[in-house]
Amino acid sequence: IMDIQIAPSILSADFVNLERDLQAISSADMVHVDVMDHHFVPNLTLGEPIVERICQVTDLPVDVHLMIEDPDRWAPEFAQLGASSITFHAGATHAPVRLARQLRKMGVKACFAVRPAEPVEPLFDIIDEFDMVLVMTVEPGFGGQKFLDNQMNKVRRLRDYITAHGMATHIQVDGGVSSQTAPIVAQAGADVLVAGSAVYGAADRAQAISDIRQAAQK
Ligand code: DX5
Ligand code: ZN
Repeated sequence: IMDIQIAPSILSADFVNLERDLQAISSADMVHVDVMDHHFVPNLTLGEPIVERICQVTDLPVDVHLMIEDPDRWAPEFAQLGASSITFHAGATHAPVRLARQLRKMGVKACFAVRPAEPVEPLFDIIDEFDMVLVMTVEPGFGGQKFLDNQMNKVRRLRDYITAHGMATHIQVDGGVSSQTAPIVAQAGADVLVAGSAVYGAADRAQAISDIRQAAQK
């Protein structure tokens, strides 16, 4: 059985009570921070100053999910702020390997993401340059959307490839993950589960984290 990591997304937290809402998820394995720029996705969230403060106030590893154009230009800037891992969208860069190497050289884990309509096979050859691959299970941009179970074949093919090549690459899923869908994603082979509304929509956030963790380990 795989070691499952839970990454609550603060996209569904209260943006003016972030410190409180970060403390509420101390039982999680990392905190997922969604950066959107109004161009790569039709939404705008937060930028460098807030990511920097989040890194200062939380004890959790900070997992930054960049939904922005030109990550080649901006990802290294975010990497300097204290993040543990940086995810950029494969479709937003022409030089994913160069960027991954740059991030790793800075001591930050590198991850690429694929949107629901993007195949992952063309990227198989570069997986060893990355610490994690993110399979989006909603169209990126907003929290609270419906889980796309048709992405599970992609997760399974990815897990098979990673296992067959003896790699330690993590597979993250993001979008619509809850204690209902956690068993499905874990069985398909994902080991890092992002959950926004399922955690922050619950009155007891610690309980929600433990419910998702338990459901994934069944
Ligand atoms: C969506 C973001 C997600 C979002 C997930 O584009 O990348 O991280 O917070 O929210 P839920 O878990 O509510 O689907
Ligand atoms: Zn995300």
